[in-house]
Amino acid sequence: MSGKFLDKGYNIIAIDQSIEMLNVAKEKYPKLKVRLGDFLKIPYSNKTFDIIVSTYAFHHLNNNEKSIAIKEMARVLEDNGKIVIGDLMFKSNKDKDNIFQKLTGEQIEEINDEYYSYIDFLKSEFKEINKELKYTRIDNLIYVVEIQ
Ligand SMILES: C[S@@+](CC[C@H](N)C(=O)[O-])C[C@H]1O[C@@H](n2cnc3c(N)ncnc32)[C@H](O)[C@@H]1O
Repeated sequence: MSGKFLDKGYNIIAIDQSIEMLNVAKEKYPKLKVRLGDFLKIPYSNKTFDIIVSTYAFHHLNNNEKSIAIKEMARVLEDNGKIVIGDLMFKSNKDKDNIFQKLTGEQIEEINDEYYSYIDFLKSEFKEINKELKYTRIDNLIYVVEIQ
């Protein structure tokens, strides 16, 4: 994804807590700016970015960590900036129950090992900081959430 943004000429910085992951990105895209950093303490000052995109990382955070990460993203976002989160999620508890009915025990165990977000939870967290959330469901579990 970083490669696509670079190709389009965006000035982007790829942030991850894993030096190994950043090295892989840098090998693929030598021109990419990378920065070691944690969602829970983003190493940038207030209002640095006009867009923040996160893919397949939010499910590593529990609800308490998600709340902190959301406030951190909002802190480093410019006024009227936009946050985009792409990840594995559930719409609601009911949606999760329906999906689990079609899965094997092993698949359920795998999912329960992570912290898939609930759209409803994210919506209320962003509402607290006066931001509106829209989402697109890509398939059963994958969503793209846009917050502005
Ligand atoms: C499945 S990978 C996705 C990587 C990349 N975003 C992508 O879409 O290809 C999940 C990444 O989230 C990172 N991650 C997990 N918890 C994090 C945190 N608290 N702060 C920053 N990065 C985190 C991991 O280091 C890992 O590289």
